[in-house]
Amino acid sequence: MSDNRGNFSGRIGFILAAAGSAVGLGNIWRFPYLAGQNGGAVFLIVYLICVFLLCYPVMIGEIAIGRAAGLDASGSYSKLGGKRWGYLGMFGIIAGIFILSFYNVVAGWAFGYFLHISFGSLLSDGDFGAFFSTFVNDIFDPTSMQGLAGSNLIFSLLFMVATAVIVAQGIQKGIEAANKIMMPALYVILISIIVYALTLPNAMSGVEFYLVPDMSELKWTTVLDGLKQAFFSLSLGMGALITYGSYLKKHENIPGSAAIISVADTSVAFLAGLMVFPLVHFLQFKLGVDNVATAGPPLIFIVLPQIFSEMGPILGRFVGGSFFLLVCFAALTSTISLLEVPVAYLVDSKKMNRKTVVWGLAALIFVLGLPSMVSQGMIPALNKLTFYRGQDFLSFVADMCDISLTVGGCLMCVFIVKQWRIGNLDAELTSGSPTYSTSFLKKYLHFTIGYVCPILLGVLSIMVILEKFIGLENIL
Ligand code: TRP
Repeated sequence: MSDNRGNFSGRIGFILAAAGSAVGLGNIWRFPYLAGQNGGAVFLIVYLICVFLLCYPVMIGEIAIGRAAGLDASGSYSKLGGKRWGYLGMFGIIAGIFILSFYNVVAGWAFGYFLHISFGSLLSDGDFGAFFSTFVNDIFDPTSMQGLAGSNLIFSLLFMVATAVIVAQGIQKGIEAANKIMMPALYVILISIIVYALTLPNAMSGVEFYLVPDMSELKWTTVLDGLKQAFFSLSLGMGALITYGSYLKKHENIPGSAAIISVADTSVAFLAGLMVFPLVHFLQFKLGVDNVATAGPPLIFIVLPQIFSEMGPILGRFVGGSFFLLVCFAALTSTISLLEVPVAYLVDSKKMNRKTVVWGLAALIFVLGLPSMVSQGMIPALNKLTFYRGQDFLSFVADMCDISLTVGGCLMCVFIVKQWRIGNLDAELTSGSPTYSTSFLKKYLHFTIGYVCPILLGVLSIMVILEKFIGLENIL
């Protein structure tokens, strides 16, 4: 049956697509700013522990569920565990829709930056912080922004259209082909920028901030942010990998593939940090300030253009332009995976036409993203939500999605242990990896999926909820 739905051509295609889903704005935009806000090296350590201890087992579980059932996220849960569990899949699908709604807005920013750096006068502007705030609020006025045609509405619309075009092409022609080109290019440019960044004055203090832990920085929020970020970055907890797993052939090795995907994703996040912190410290040194690292969501949109402008008008345009273009590509391989999840659901469970579903959902999600887009200052009420401790709507949606990812991951483990049974997981993993049944990995997965993941993810998810709505400082 799964052959009628399309398949990945093979292991490499699957790994590239899943790694493409994982590598995105999460790695290049979110990871550096969260690390900056959470003490640098300490955050990196927490993050790595989360990936190894919690994310890798959940990733294997998701892929196995998808491949065992051969259906979309909700269909897979229903098929293996009955209708009630199907709601867990639905919950994930809805979370994915909301992730895409705000993700597409940020991807639009990256696209706008690509245009402004390559063709506009951004690099000679000087005040990159001010530019960013004007930029994100430039939504409906196509004549503004130095005459560059377009505004965020157009940027993010184009982004959604590009996503829909690729997803409409189906698994091999669309999703796989796109990833094969973009992923390697991203590595090359990241490493080139790192090499340049390391030669700048004060770069080494950035490296130190990023790699030498100051344990006094370890706080509960560091742990919670690290966990959320790890789930988000590896595309876990909402069925994206169930969906991709459902297109994976039976003879492919799941634990091995999951290891490669995790390492690929983590290495890009690591490299993004290694790129950003030398730049941050160079900038702090140059401007004589010390608050650049904690700039939050605008971080890469402020420090990177500054550096590209240092490179001079021609090189800066070229390197900066290619960099943001690649960020767009990385984001695109992620938006593709986000859109594929609800598309697969409607195609599999409701037997709807793939193209119709793709365009309908793309339009819906684009509209759902509009409140996030105008929440950066344009509409003050959305900029400072009264029920959400004065934060903006985009952060609110992002936080709610983060919560649903860790909750989703926790419930997935419960599903495997209580409903599907761990023996079935073992059987699915043995297919394609004959040595699994006698391996240490089997014991590790039994222990983590059986105990560590459900318990820790459960407790930490509750803490995240408390943190977001009440504030941990008011509780602990
Ligand atoms: N992992 C992607 C990133 O880091 C975002 C993403 C794509 C995602 N698909 C997902 C996050 C599914 C959670 C679930 O940019």
